[in-house]
Amino acid sequence: MEPDLSVRIGDIRMKNPIMPASGTFSYGEEMADIIDLSKLGAVIMKTTTLKPRQGNPYPRICETDAGIINSIGLQNPGIDVVIREKIPFLLKFETPIIVSIGGATIDEYVWLTEKINNKAELVNGIEVNISCPNMEGGGIGFGQDPEIASEVVAKVKKAVSPDLTIIVKLTPNVTNIVTIAKAVVSAGADAISLINTVRARGKVRGKDETWLDGGLSGPAIKPIALKLVHEVAQAKLGVPTIGIGGISTVTDVLDFLECGADAVQIGTANFINPNVMMEVINGLKAHMKEKNYSNIEELKKGKNK
Ligand SMILES: Cc1cc2nc3c(=O)[nH]c(=O)nc-3n(C[C@H](O)[C@H](O)[C@H](O)COP(=O)(O)O)c2cc1C
Repeated sequence: MEPDLSVRIGDIRMKNPIMPASGTFSYGEEMADIIDLSKLGAVIMKTTTLKPRQGNPYPRICETDAGIINSIGLQNPGIDVVIREKIPFLLKFETPIIVSIGGATIDEYVWLTEKINNKAELVNGIEVNISCPNMEGGGIGFGQDPEIASEVVAKVKKAVSPDLTIIVKLTPNVTNIVTIAKAVVSAGADAISLINTVRARGKVRGKDETWLDGGLSGPAIKPIALKLVHEVAQAKLGVPTIGIGGISTVTDVLDFLECGADAVQIGTANFINPNVMMEVINGLKAHMKEKNYSNIEELKKGKNK
């Protein structure tokens, strides 16, 4: 019998636990020519803001020994274009759609949520990216202060229909991740995803050498992500956890599941091998067949024995 790879994140039933990490998959249009989007557990869009954003000046990417530093600056066409053009494109695939939102103020998170909620029948969930700087709070990230993080999530929850699953994406750039995770779950988060990129600096080599301050991603951050996912899972907050950070193989996925994740997102690896998510989904299925696990729950139990 074929193993059942499905998982449930909040009210979203996914065919498998593999989905793209926000910002590494754009809105899925270019990727649809390369991979079959209907095979993914879900599609998570690039973080969208209220108004269109040009993003930061170039260079925006710096290669490092085991990952990349990016400083894209949330370039995106704004929520109205996403609702009008990007979501309709994705509707032809039978894959849950998750919109990622980022605000400069708490009100902006609420307005973004209200706009998405007006189209609630088209999408399955919202990933609240709280790594954005809080412009009212002196630029400290919303996700770095448990009270502010909790206020964002409580107001988003209030603005949204209960059918939409609210995933809150945490930043690793904090002293105590469990404090933030507890705050957002108490405020109503249906699931937690982690981690966003790790604060870093690198030198962009080449003709015009320059330093780039941004966020590190890729294999270099996998051990950091595993540690933080494990801490949050151990806190047993009663919501699913989605692991992110340096995943590109089945072994990486198994490591995250073993540390307590219920699903995973793949980011930087998509830039190196656009087919990576398909390979990981097929590889995970083959692994489960070989080990005789009939579903993900059994796989997690087997691994945790
Ligand atoms: C080029 C680039 C753009 C990103 N843009 C976003 C974004 O818009 N929203 C977000 O929540 N995370 C963004 N991220 C972070 C990823 O979603 C992910 O959390 C991080 O890269 C760690 O996963 P990875 O090591 O598999 O890349 C971006 C990462 C990269 C490399």
